[in-house]
Amino acid sequence: MSGATDPAYAWPLRTPHPGHETYLFDRIGIEGMADLETARAHGAYETFERVLEEMEPSEVTAAVKDSGLRGRGGAGFPCGLKWTFMPPLDDPRPRFLAVNADESEPGTCKDRVLIRRHPHLLLEGILCASYAMGITAAHIFIRGEYVEEARVLQRAIDEAYAAGWIGADIRGKGFGVDIHLTRGAGAYICGEETALMEATEGKRGHPRPKPPFPAAVGLWGKPTTVNNVETLCNVPAILAKGVAWYRRIGTQASPGNVLAGISGHVARPGVYEVPLGITMRRLIEDEAFGGGVRNGKGLKAFIPGGSSSGFLPPSELDVPLTHDDLKEKGTMLGTASVIVLDEDASIVRATRIIADFYHDESCGQCSQCREGTGWLARILARIERGAGRPEDLDILLEACANMKGKTICVLSDAAAWPVELALRHFRGEFEEAIDRARTVVGVAAGSGEGSAS
Ligand SMILES: Cc1cc2nc3c(=O)[nH]c(=O)nc-3n(C[C@H](O)[C@H](O)[C@H](O)COP(=O)(O)O)c2cc1C
Ligand code: SF4
Repeated sequence: MSGATDPAYAWPLRTPHPGHETYLFDRIGIEGMADLETARAHGAYETFERVLEEMEPSEVTAAVKDSGLRGRGGAGFPCGLKWTFMPPLDDPRPRFLAVNADESEPGTCKDRVLIRRHPHLLLEGILCASYAMGITAAHIFIRGEYVEEARVLQRAIDEAYAAGWIGADIRGKGFGVDIHLTRGAGAYICGEETALMEATEGKRGHPRPKPPFPAAVGLWGKPTTVNNVETLCNVPAILAKGVAWYRRIGTQASPGNVLAGISGHVARPGVYEVPLGITMRRLIEDEAFGGGVRNGKGLKAFIPGGSSSGFLPPSELDVPLTHDDLKEKGTMLGTASVIVLDEDASIVRATRIIADFYHDESCGQCSQCREGTGWLARILARIERGAGRPEDLDILLEACANMKGKTICVLSDAAAWPVELALRHFRGEFEEAIDRARTVVGVAAGSGEGSAS
């Protein structure tokens, strides 16, 4: 369904560029893939069945580790390595898999497509992971606004239970796991892995201090692995086609394909399956992907990996989409969600909007985050409305420095990064906004407002 518009989505779904080998979106265009019968006709659960018959749990973990698969939820942690942090399989305690379907990072909507169009791929990934780690129950936590996705996924779970793919003693092989679905209630912070566990347990979604890490003390105090939806959807392909095949896609340190969402001022917004290592330029400009800045305008800036990754200037367009290359540029791959701003966009305004978001979503437990996000939002709003002061930029940077590495979770850091990056690359635009304010009668700096009001 190349380029076809799914009526359920505001964005068109796009099949990948011809020539790219795909394994995440390869079947999403098939009508009825959310139904078990159709999914089975197109290979669903075949890999899991073969895994049950032919592989030891440790071999599954070893394959995922050797594949180099890195988490697609934002942090890029090596998936197989994370699985090895779970206690040995003869540990008698129950153990859980927490599946992160909260997907609330602005610009990010790729897990939604997988869940909506191919839920049995996610369930198969969960089953393979559960077998590898001896998981007794998997708990999927899905973003509250994903009403239709939750319905589709629950239906897929029910069908898979009825057909004996989920539950006790699956296919008579002595392995069993339950899969439960919990719906969120609209808080971004519930995507942070420890807040996700709190919320799954029915509590307020407040992050927990780490250590202890989830593999030691997770859901209901038991060993738990947290994985993103897309991460788990990579697993069946790795097990079916092999580690060598997987490592041929992408780069040495960032193997595999990634679902890149492109939004903002581009001609062809959408979610695309692309190999890691593709340049931002290709992703944004190629006719097969973003198709360039819309209406023939110039590019002002782009966000490479969701709102917390901040703005890069056009001079960085040739950076490859990998964890390490983007880190070198002072940003991150994050959720590979690219947001494009055209030449008419205001970086000051865009940065203020992002700061507002983090201020709204801070859970308030840590003063650096609770107060810091408020300072950023208020100072940026002041600059945007034409009442900025010359000292504001230094105050912003000082506030950012005080927000990083000091809090229970990294929302605080994630709020500081885009402000710092905007000031590194677009400081002139902020200075201009402040200078303009100083020349306007009545809104000159020092107009008597409080320091961060
Ligand atoms: C504030 C915040 C929000 C997050 N939101 C999500 C999310 O919506 N989905 C997700 O998979 N990971 C999210 N993460 C990352 C998770 O904490 C965790 O690293 C991830 O689910 C692990 O899965 P992975 O290793 O498969 O990527 C968030 C992290 C933070 C700090
Ligand atoms: S850093 Fe912010 S969101 Fe995270 S726990 Fe502290 S206050 Fe809450």
